[in-house]
Amino acid sequence: MAELEPKKIISLMSGTSCDSIDAGLCRVNPDLSCELISGINYKYPEHIRAKIFQLFSGDASIKDVCQMNFAIGKCFAEACKVLISEFGKPDLISSHGQTIFHYPFDEKIDNVSLKSTLQIGESSVIAYETGCPVISNFREADIAAGGQGAPLVCFADDRWFKGKNVAIQNIGGISNVTVVAKDIDTFGFDTGLGNIMIDYCVNKYYGQSYDKDGRIAASGNICESWLDCLMQDEYYFKNPPKTTGREYFTKQYIENALRFAPKNSEDIIATVTALTAKTIASAYERFVYPITSIDEVIIGGGGAYNTTLMNMLRCYLPKHIVLKTHEDYAISNNFKEVMAFAVLGYCSYYNIPNNIPSCTGAAKRVVLGKITAA
Ligand SMILES: Nc1ncnc2c1ncn2[C@@H]1O[C@H](COP(=O)(O)OP(=O)(O)O)[C@@H](O)[C@H]1O
Ligand SMILES: [Mg+2]
Repeated sequence: MAELEPKKIISLMSGTSCDSIDAGLCRVNPDLSCELISGINYKYPEHIRAKIFQLFSGDASIKDVCQMNFAIGKCFAEACKVLISEFGKPDLISSHGQTIFHYPFDEKIDNVSLKSTLQIGESSVIAYETGCPVISNFREADIAAGGQGAPLVCFADDRWFKGKNVAIQNIGGISNVTVVAKDIDTFGFDTGLGNIMIDYCVNKYYGQSYDKDGRIAASGNICESWLDCLMQDEYYFKNPPKTTGREYFTKQYIENALRFAPKNSEDIIATVTALTAKTIASAYERFVYPITSIDEVIIGGGGAYNTTLMNMLRCYLPKHIVLKTHEDYAISNNFKEVMAFAVLGYCSYYNIPNNIPSCTGAAKRVVLGKITAA
């Protein structure tokens, strides 16, 4: 194996919230520690973002998918160029891409598995536009090995937090947890909704894209009967490994749920915010505490900035657990996933296996990611 050297990597991520392309210039070291040198949240042009939501809605053709693969690749390249103009070219680019479909189910036709996932943002466009090699398409190799292709950030969490007893909870569009503890193999899964339903309702009732700092939720009351009803969804009862996405928590899903919502809009926002907090706490009760005790929950992702959500989580978690954010560990909440994908890209470059089978359900450890030459 080639001798490992530190690498400068621009890492690119756009999550299910589709709020921005998060681009970070990172330095990844041979011990897989990672420093963020600079990060930007590059907004998609308005009509491109609308087209992505059209892909999410299922109301799109193969032509749309084909076109958007190249258009998103161009947007990702533009985000890179902002960093390159200030800091020069990195050694490589690590691009997660934009997930437009994730199908982690064991469904078969003619005994052939349909388990699959699709992240777009053409790597050839990014490589051509920037002149840098690009690592992309991380999830496919894990699915090929029988896994769900997610969650992948657990690999970095395992490296960064080993030796502690913690749950590392990302609250993006979807929420996912990594559990790192002394006497067990690191494991993780998606706990369910993160910000998708909050954003949808805030948009529907207030015409805003998100509930800044959780102010609307703070002004409403939780409707306990509706919350109980929402908590009964079968996803929350499924055993890990499990992952989910917008294919499950669709616009239709949310609209169906809203048929039973309270009248007052503030109460709706308060209740869907409580749903995210309570499903996280109940996932720990069902799937984490029976396996290991934890001392801390470390929050990351955009949900960390929703003060009401954080306060609710504090109420639902057992009192002895300390609630922190990544910032308490000098890791940006905003760029944590970007840093994790820089580490995943570094491993791909050096052929180091970078999935964790106890998180994804894969049959074995494999090297994730494909390389596109500059
Ligand atoms: N200041 C804030 N107050 C409340 N919510 C926020 C704030 N900043 C970000 N968010 C929420 O976080 C979401 C983005 O989180 P992110 O971690 O980027 O998710 P994803 O990985 O799905 O893109 C936004 O859509 C919004 O709901
Ligand atoms: Mg985002």
